[in-house]
Amino acid sequence: MLLVVMLSASVRFSIYSIKYQRHQKHEILNGELRNRFEFQLLGFSAFIIWAFPPCSLVERSRNLEHGGNAHLDFIRALVQIRICGTHGAIKPMFCAGKRPNETIEKVDDFCCMGRRKKMVVENVTILAIADKGQALARIDDVVTFVKGVVPGDVCDIMIKRKRKNYWEGHVMKITELSPIRIEAKCKYFGVCGGCKWQNLSYEKQLEFKQKQVNDALQRIGKVEVGAFEPILGSENVFNYRNKLEFSFSHRRWLTQEEVESGKVFEDVPSLGFHVPGRWDKVLDVEECHLMAEPSNGIRNRVREIALANDFSYYNLNAQTGFLRNLIVRSTMMNDWMVILSVAEDNPNAIKLILDTLAEEFPQLTSVLYVINDKPNDTIADLDIQVHSGNDYIMEEMEGLKFRVGPKSFYQTNGPQAYELYKITRDFAGLTGNEVVYDLYTGTGTIAQFVAKQAKKVVGIEYVEPAIVDAKLNAELNGIENTSFYAGDMKDVFTKELVAKEGHPDVVITDPPRAGMHGDVVARLNELLPQRIVYVSCNPATQARDVQLLSENYEVKKVRPLDMFPHTHHVESVVLLERRVISEE
Ligand SMILES: C[S@@+](CC[C@H](N)C(=O)[O-])C[C@H]1O[C@@H](n2cnc3c(N)ncnc32)[C@H](O)[C@@H]1O
Repeated sequence: MLLVVMLSASVRFSIYSIKYQRHQKHEILNGELRNRFEFQLLGFSAFIIWAFPPCSLVERSRNLEHGGNAHLDFIRALVQIRICGTHGAIKPMFCAGKRPNETIEKVDDFCCMGRRKKMVVENVTILAIADKGQALARIDDVVTFVKGVVPGDVCDIMIKRKRKNYWEGHVMKITELSPIRIEAKCKYFGVCGGCKWQNLSYEKQLEFKQKQVNDALQRIGKVEVGAFEPILGSENVFNYRNKLEFSFSHRRWLTQEEVESGKVFEDVPSLGFHVPGRWDKVLDVEECHLMAEPSNGIRNRVREIALANDFSYYNLNAQTGFLRNLIVRSTMMNDWMVILSVAEDNPNAIKLILDTLAEEFPQLTSVLYVINDKPNDTIADLDIQVHSGNDYIMEEMEGLKFRVGPKSFYQTNGPQAYELYKITRDFAGLTGNEVVYDLYTGTGTIAQFVAKQAKKVVGIEYVEPAIVDAKLNAELNGIENTSFYAGDMKDVFTKELVAKEGHPDVVITDPPRAGMHGDVVARLNELLPQRIVYVSCNPATQARDVQLLSENYEVKKVRPLDMFPHTHHVESVVLLERRVISEE
């Protein structure tokens, strides 16, 4: 009986498969199965299962005798194979008969993954830190990525997803804590997501960051590196940021413990940070250790005023409400800026909040607001209004002054930015005779930092107001050998520009996380400056670009630098020197 059912199902699936190929149908089995390959695979799977029925299917088929529906059950089992992922499910089924009992139990778990049970593997030791701060373990010899644990932790892991070359897991329980763990300082640790590595000693954090940079150049870049220089840690591991952005939400995010406590929490609004992976959920934050005072004071005062006056917080789903975002920025010169973003023009409410802040926080040299009634939070395309003070804050380094406007990028850790610029200048090895291009110049900070040692510096940047600031800064600092251009790098950094400004001897490039556009890399390979100093906040894209340049350049040295303690982010400066072509 069982054999007949299996055989009929197998034939049926083969017919579906042929029909599918003929008519290119995409919507069979309620749209669960979508491509030709999967259908062929199902026909094949049906045959395999018919030929070598694994324990779980046999058992299910036995249940038929107690009133189950054989055909339906068989189809479900096949659909589950598809859900489990072919690499995870089919392989163990092949070996089902040959494996020890323990493994056969796992096979049964695999078969059930799509519907009820997911595979949980106990007592797995976390081996290393992987990309994006995830942790890495090996389960059944497959690399498995998990979050929220550190190397040396032993834990029970549920397999969430199976990809071709790796799995993704979810930590169910930590059974043994790693000796490298330390107590996190923040009361929101684990919920907020801002400082995921607060439970690691700073020494370990630096070790992992150094490894991340070195690994990227070796594994992604596949290049030889002359010297791996030691990572430069941040002197301040707390209160190091000069910019934080807080969001308002009409509903407070409840932690897992609060939900599980069974208590009823009032539906109060929140002002704080987005919970990781949830654009619509905001954690109410009273105290954050990332920025010095009066950052907490300003945010908490705004909350008090809003609650006392019943100002509505933004509803991120319905896109209604008044208060949207609060940005706080500062500099090493102790200039402070706030930008209040609101969805409606309510002059009295805006005045009340900003008057109070200006009066109670004398450090605020720039009090700004913006009316944003768009669905997204970005203010780059909006007019920023000055409530009081300047429309910029001032930064200073080695006597050079930098004006930073509300839309301009500025490195988020001031003292470390200074160290970064010193390393960059040192790597550039300027003698005073070079034409230097500073790509992705922002407000022209690096350009002006190296200008004294160069013949001339050309800065290019996408954000127009930043270029306005860059020009003003050059004027302010009495620097006359710089010129700045606004626009997309791939369109501005052209042969025509080079013909006008001069051939680059040294290029300093500091692109955003995505790295350089392919056309920009191609232009560098055409222009072939003697040296390229590549500053990056993403070692993976940096390594990718370095590889694209490696035919013409050798990597002399790399120096990582930590701008963001307690996060997996790391800055990396690479020096590329033009290869000497032997004339044989
Ligand atoms: C990592 S920041 C570097 C800023 C600057 N070097 C500094 O240290 O302050 C990257 C800069 O690249 C700019 N940018 C991003 N995409 C760009 C593009 N396609 N073309 C030109 N500039 C771009 C951003 O606006 C930002 O100012």
